[in-house]
Amino acid sequence: MTKAIQIKQFGGPEVLELVDLPVGEPGPGEIRIRHHAVGLNFIDVYQRTGLYPNTLPMTLGMEAAGVVEAVGPGVTHLAPGDRAAYASGPPGSYCVLRVMPAKCVCKLPDAISFETGAAMMLKGLTAQYLLKKTQPQGGLQPGDAVLWHAAAGGVGLIACQWAKAMGLQLIATAGSDAKCRLALEHGAAHAINYRTENFVERVKAITGGAGVKVVYDSVGKDTFEGSLDVLRPFGLLASFGNASGPVPPFAPGILGAKGSLYITRATLFTHITTREATQAMAADLFAIVQSGAVKIRIDQSYPLDDVARAHRELEARSTTGCSILLP
Ligand SMILES: NC(=O)c1ccc[n+]([C@@H]2O[C@H](COP(=O)([O-])OP(=O)(O)OC[C@H]3O[C@@H](n4cnc5c(N)ncnc54)[C@H](OP(=O)(O)O)[C@@H]3O)[C@@H](O)[C@H]2O)c1
Repeated sequence: MTKAIQIKQFGGPEVLELVDLPVGEPGPGEIRIRHHAVGLNFIDVYQRTGLYPNTLPMTLGMEAAGVVEAVGPGVTHLAPGDRAAYASGPPGSYCVLRVMPAKCVCKLPDAISFETGAAMMLKGLTAQYLLKKTQPQGGLQPGDAVLWHAAAGGVGLIACQWAKAMGLQLIATAGSDAKCRLALEHGAAHAINYRTENFVERVKAITGGAGVKVVYDSVGKDTFEGSLDVLRPFGLLASFGNASGPVPPFAPGILGAKGSLYITRATLFTHITTREATQAMAADLFAIVQSGAVKIRIDQSYPLDDVARAHRELEARSTTGCSILLP
């Protein structure tokens, strides 16, 4: 049996329920893993509210780190006793013990703690595929300017540091002056408080009117139009989240009028459909974290059974960096 956080209906943080669930033996291609730390992500909120629907009842959670207890037939890259971490569906990481597909579970280097592993897999792999694999025509070169919204959050602070390591000029937006300072301390070249300043005007001023090659936008509804307005001709809007609500339907003609722009709605899960792809991205993440160029900042940790408070704080924009749950 395991303690787990389940929802039986979609709704606010009050639908999160601590329950006891049975845990079986791993089948073909599966492992059983005992979690030492669990990652909290904004996608957990979308799944809790039903914005991203799943079959109920469900255990939430897409990220964790722990020790492999048992492996099923056909699993060769993991063995009982291995330290491991993952960002992976199906949801279900808000628990102590689970059986899950092994495909996206990676061995965790000894130098990386369980807490860091749990905090960084989903957010770090996201920063990886966005900065390295979601680029405009002609790619990104050192010195290029990109705009990153919500840059003081979990994914955001990793991106600030990684972009700096790539030589990019990352212009950060964030919801308070303190968050702007945090983004600057983590490698952003400029920071804009988009609650008090017009980010379109500021980005134009910073880039001498030229605009940026890419906007990485996880805020969604509130920033969508401004994000298009700060792109150079042929620039790319990489939309990857809905923290303020989903982007409403729009006419493609707007992309022509604003300079033959490109738009993608990107998701990590397209990038980690095979073990090989997941492992290659994770190796890149482990390397940059072990080099010290990207530090994983855990600003909030909560006992697993205090998960409702964790969700409230994440949705209230009162968190910075990564948050973890401790089972
Ligand atoms: N597509 C993918 O592959 C993928 C993968 C991972 C994460 N994501 C997305 O990336 C974003 C960041 O994820 P995260 O887990 O690291 O979360 P996070 O950035 O730590 O938290 C979300 C942040 O969004 C900002 N925000 C702006 N408007 C908001 C609003 N109306 N309500 C709540 N927050 C608002 C807040 O920062 P400010 O106060 O600074 O505005 C808040 O701290 C999320 O949108 C998530 O869904 C997408």
